Amino acid sequence: MKRYLFYFILALYLFGFAMPLYAISADEFLEVTKFSGKAVTKKGDPAEGKAIYVMFCVNCHGEKGDGNGPVAKVAKMDPKPRNHADGKYMNERKGEDLFKAIKLGGKAVDKSVYMPAFSMVLSDEDIWNIVAFVRTIAIPPYSKD
Ligand code: HEC
Repeated sequence: MKRYLFYFILALYLFGFAMPLYAISADEFLEVTKFSGKAVTKKGDPAEGKAIYVMFCVNCHGEKGDGNGPVAKVAKMDPKPRNHADGKYMNERKGEDLFKAIKLGGKAVDKSVYMPAFSMVLSDEDIWNIVAFVRTIAIPPYSKD
């Protein structure tokens, strides 16, 4: 049963990932991945990070990073994917913790196993770029770097 659920979510995830690539034009893709905020960390490039976030993370974490992505909703994920806009929680997490969660998956940081490991897909530089982007959407704003 558990295994079935895992494959179900994986299929949804892959389907969701492919959808935007077919459904929108290259111009529209550039539009949704455009970063207009300001960097708040010394490390990483948030503009690069946003493009990757739109491709790999919004299916679960949502377009606004609030944890309400379509895959998370359909799969009724519990716990929900982390709300990256929740500065109260996120600003207390060290950059290294976020890096580790993205690189090695939720289990590596005692979070849900439904948070996949991206070490096979993303370089360390990509991951630091994502961390830099995630820091820019926190409310209240992140200001520890
Ligand atoms: C299949 C759904 C899914 C995908 C895709 C996904 N996540 Fe997650 N993510 C989760 C879940 C579920 C959690 C765990 C929440 C919890 O345990 O409270 C999580 C947790 C996290 C955390 C840990 C936050 C903390 O509590 O310290 C980070 C950081 C994170 N995700 C970033 C990302 C990034 C960046 C991407 C894209 C590269 C991504 N996630 C893709 C579902 C997903």
